[in-house]
Amino acid sequence: VTDPTPAPTLYDQLAYRTLAKPQTHPDRLATIALLHGMTPRPVDRCRVLELGCGDGSNLVPMAYGLPDSEFVGVDLAGTAVAAGTAAIEALGLRNVTLHHRDIMDLPATLGTFDYIVAHGLYSWVPDAVRDRILAIFHAHLAPHGVAYASYNTYPGCHLRQAVWQVLKFHVHGVDDPTERVAQARALARFLADCPQVDGVDGAALASEMRAVLDHSPGLLFHDDLASINVPVYFHQFVAHAHRHALQFLAEANLHEMQTRAYPPAVDAQLQALADGSVVQREQYLDFVANRRFRQTLLCHEDVVLDRSLEPDVVGRLYVSSGVRPIAEHPDVASPTVVEEFRSPRGGTMSTDYPAAKAVLVHLGRVWPREIRFDALLDEVGVKEAEATAKLRDILLAAYTAGFVELSTLAPHFVLEPGVRPLASPVARLQTQSGAFVTTLRHTSVSIEDDLGRRLLRLLDGTRTREELLEEMRRLVPNPSELTPDGFERTLTQLARFRLLVA
Ligand SMILES: C[S@@+](CC[C@H](N)C(=O)[O-])C[C@H]1O[C@@H](n2cnc3c(N)ncnc32)[C@H](O)[C@@H]1O
Repeated sequence: VTDPTPAPTLYDQLAYRTLAKPQTHPDRLATIALLHGMTPRPVDRCRVLELGCGDGSNLVPMAYGLPDSEFVGVDLAGTAVAAGTAAIEALGLRNVTLHHRDIMDLPATLGTFDYIVAHGLYSWVPDAVRDRILAIFHAHLAPHGVAYASYNTYPGCHLRQAVWQVLKFHVHGVDDPTERVAQARALARFLADCPQVDGVDGAALASEMRAVLDHSPGLLFHDDLASINVPVYFHQFVAHAHRHALQFLAEANLHEMQTRAYPPAVDAQLQALADGSVVQREQYLDFVANRRFRQTLLCHEDVVLDRSLEPDVVGRLYVSSGVRPIAEHPDVASPTVVEEFRSPRGGTMSTDYPAAKAVLVHLGRVWPREIRFDALLDEVGVKEAEATAKLRDILLAAYTAGFVELSTLAPHFVLEPGVRPLASPVARLQTQSGAFVTTLRHTSVSIEDDLGRRLLRLLDGTRTREELLEEMRRLVPNPSELTPDGFERTLTQLARFRLLVA
């Protein structure tokens, strides 16, 4: 690719913090495609394109974790691309390149990709660029490829639009990005804190203003105060995709398509309103939830999808879950005692089926390990065909409800720090620029304390645990407070965050 250098943009003036997004990882896209009867390209040998990749914070960890796959990013902001390219060089990665380029000038020679991602782009660009995103999906997506786009949606964004208009009215004429953010934040604070008085209907907007106060400067500037921020109804997005011969596959968070949290009557009414159309059902669900943001997967229109979700696929996948039984000593063996399990995200599920109870207890115990379905059955001692089939159904239902994770591969992390512990080089590099680091499962964790970040940086595989403890003791004012036990606990915690490699 030859770079006709685009002019500096607002993203060069005020950076936007890009984090790794597990919902965009090719593994997530492949898992959902498989469950819908597609034959996506194996993730460890695929090509991935990210449009509006920023500084590559999403793409670079993917490239590190999948060394035999190829990753290409494109972004208009030169500063972000330069930072990302420096990181790629520092890490010595040869399977990822970032291009400082307008997606309007994307060369056809880039070829086809098995997965294409555009997060935070569709709603925030002019009409022609919005259309080009979908044109690129169509032109560059492999026949069984999966594309991801996130966008703001109605009806939820009507209220957000009120916030944007109020804040933009207030900062009208203020050009300096830092000043715009400061003044917008000051007004949001004032409106959030205004007491509500009888007969005045200000509570909803005040609550939105409180939410704005939690936004990072980059989000406030590039989302709330953006000159272009175009929400669409879901049906409009799908119609737009259809004009580019693309169809709705699913949401990247499959559990967001579920109605389990509502009484059954809500689901029945949605079915009636949908009249057999998944798009209609999703649209009415957005009305129910007053939805404001979507992360939608698309594929080519000629792909025949099996929306019944095939449980047999679970047999080819890895399973993991941080669920915990609520009871201290759950009765796994009894076929009549119902046990309740809580997911890390807060929901609960219950079952009296002994094999399911055994599987959930086991998964929680070995979390965050990923285990192939057949190995999982071996580990809990399930052999019978009937129980195996039933467990496939239950785990699929638990996946769509957000209780377990399914994946096409297991990332290479270790849970036991070795003699000379080694942390992911991506995470080690990231500690130099902030608290957020990317785990080997492509999630972000914030290592808040400086000492934790320093330890992570030292874990380059050259130091024994004793040497590490010595070095850490030199860094703290009161070395005796850093006990070998405390040090081991911190190491174990980093391993449980999925930050250590073999
Ligand atoms: C809101 S940020 C999202 C960045 C990243 N995808 C994320 O989710 O964190 C939008 C990004 O799209 C880039 N962008 C906007 N218009 C573009 C265009 N026409 N071509 C390439 N990149 C563009 C911006 O420079 C910016 O980095």
